Amino acid sequence: MELRKAYTPAETRYDDAAALYRRCGRSGVLLPKVSLGFWHNFGSGDSYERARAIAHYAFDHGVTHFDLANNYGPPYGSAEETLGRLMTDDFRPHRDELFIATKAGYDIWPGPYGNWGSRKHLMASLDQSLRRMNMDYVDLFYSHRYDPETPLEETLQALVDIVRQGKALYVGLSRWPLEALKTAHAYLLAHDVPLLVYQGRINLLDRGPIEEGILDYCRDAGIGFVSFSPLAQGLLTDRYLHGVPDDSRMAVGKFLKREQLTPELLTRLQQLNVTAATRGETLAEMALAWILHQPGITSVLAGASSPEQLAKNLKAIHAEPFDF
Ligand SMILES: NC(=O)c1ccc[n+]([C@@H]2O[C@H](COP(=O)([O-])OP(=O)(O)OC[C@H]3O[C@@H](n4cnc5c(N)ncnc54)[C@H](OP(=O)(O)O)[C@@H]3O)[C@@H](O)[C@H]2O)c1
Repeated sequence: MELRKAYTPAETRYDDAAALYRRCGRSGVLLPKVSLGFWHNFGSGDSYERARAIAHYAFDHGVTHFDLANNYGPPYGSAEETLGRLMTDDFRPHRDELFIATKAGYDIWPGPYGNWGSRKHLMASLDQSLRRMNMDYVDLFYSHRYDPETPLEETLQALVDIVRQGKALYVGLSRWPLEALKTAHAYLLAHDVPLLVYQGRINLLDRGPIEEGILDYCRDAGIGFVSFSPLAQGLLTDRYLHGVPDDSRMAVGKFLKREQLTPELLTRLQQLNVTAATRGETLAEMALAWILHQPGITSVLAGASSPEQLAKNLKAIHAEPFDF
């Protein structure tokens, strides 16, 4: 039987700390400007050795923040199981160097308690997540989506109690509309569990949270903002400029559809690619840099299907400011 090589993290992993880390709102937490998302490429159907190589590359370069959710995989829960395996194989001695987030709110098990924002769902889901990840606590626990049916106070008090129970150190909200976000911010402050971070999608193709005033609100309120799908699932890279590669998310996944790549969008991406080239950057690097230079942004949660992609994306932390 082949023995797995033991992992020794790079001693140089914090050498670029001054450029890499940014304070998360008005808090004591520093997050890497480029964090690693576990939505794709970390499920049980993906290569464990490749997932492991990506996670090693991240940690070796100071990317201490891993973003998960109960339902990442596929199948649901399996990305958390992969992280649990990585903890056992490699990261247990470095637990205190990592900032691990998970979420609940989308469907994960059948029946009325398997999704949305009830206390029942949030508490049970986090307990399941901790078992899968082989951890006593997470650093950050999110309500993954706003639930228009459950009283906000029930969801928010569950978040407060989760922190009081020591199962999460901080709480966050993802995809909540502005008015509910304001209510949540006030409620959580009043209960001594300040909202650490808001997670929303901002990228060169989707400026929703900017247009809705959410980014400005977070900045003024001292709430960090992390942007998910900063590369629009790979559209804002060189991946689709010359067709749809067989191993790409568009070819193999179900969340990025071929119909999304219209001739108009392709022309726009090609133009953006030319702009990036004139800056001496890849399209991915420029797309991430644009987000990172929006006032109020803490981090981009980029996905990667190889360590090489992550290496390219990390260059964005040094990119010059610019605007479109
Ligand atoms: N809160 C929410 O509701 C929510 C929703 C979605 C995502 N998220 C979080 O955000 C994270 C990132 O989302 P995402 O995976 O959609 O991220 P993304 O960064 O927009 O897209 C990642 C994909 O882009 C391609 N890519 C990345 N770097 C590249 C490079 N340098 N060159 C060429 N291609 C590159 C890869 O696709 P290929 O696989 O084709 O190589 C990769 O899987 C998730 O993992 C998750 O943690 C949260």
